Amino acid sequence: MHTETAPAATDHLPISPSVLYFGTPVALLTTENADRTANLAPISSAWALGHTVVLGLGAEGHTVANLTARPELVINLPSADMWAAVERLAPLTGAHPVPAAKRPVYRHEPDKFAAAGLSPQPSETVRPPRVAECPLQLEARVRTLTPAGLDGEFRIAECDVVRVHASAALVVPGTQHVDPGAWSPLIYNFRHYFALSRPELGHGFRSQTTSNT
Ligand SMILES: Cc1cc2nc3c(=O)[nH]c(=O)nc-3n(C[C@H](O)[C@H](O)[C@H](O)COP(=O)(O)O)c2cc1C
Repeated sequence: MHTETAPAATDHLPISPSVLYFGTPVALLTTENADRTANLAPISSAWALGHTVVLGLGAEGHTVANLTARPELVINLPSADMWAAVERLAPLTGAHPVPAAKRPVYRHEPDKFAAAGLSPQPSETVRPPRVAECPLQLEARVRTLTPAGLDGEFRIAECDVVRVHASAALVVPGTQHVDPGAWSPLIYNFRHYFALSRPELGHGFRSQTTSNT
């Protein structure tokens, strides 16, 4: 039986932070522009249930415009050591002209792969390319794109993952499993980049990648 108890935190303050980015993995979304070139956008509002991945997207982003017209994408997962390439994408948008709300902070960039120093790699089941440097790449199709937020300022994209590509170094030999000890996601934590701490603390009871299974 588990007997340890976490110490109670008794010194909470009520605060009003400007963002609630409490530490989620970064994904680089590739989508197809109207002229068939690719757009590339960093996000961190993403989670998976089964082979569905749910994304939170700003309605004014070019990614939403692309997905509305052409609902295919690749959800590329950068490793922690790719944070500087991700940050090179941060002030860029594929939208032209830049929407008024984004104008003070963002500038238009038609070739985000070149701007970030990343390489496109053809996908197998969807039209947007993969990001070759990303160790995990999920080819996907948008099932639903739903308005969200108090003023409709977001879209929630439910995506069906149709093909998963994993760097060979991450795959447990002879299995279909990603080795959690080898995979190092990039975490966006209140607008700062982190890797996960090592070694692992433990594993879930349904894990299929423990050393004794
Ligand atoms: C690390 C990081 C995480 C981000 N997370 C999100 C997010 O979850 N959803 C979103 O819409 N924008 C997010 N952004 C902002 C978009 O990248 C930004 O709006 C960008 O201009 C979108 O590009 P696009 O207009 O070409 O689609 C994030 C930016 C960074 C650098």
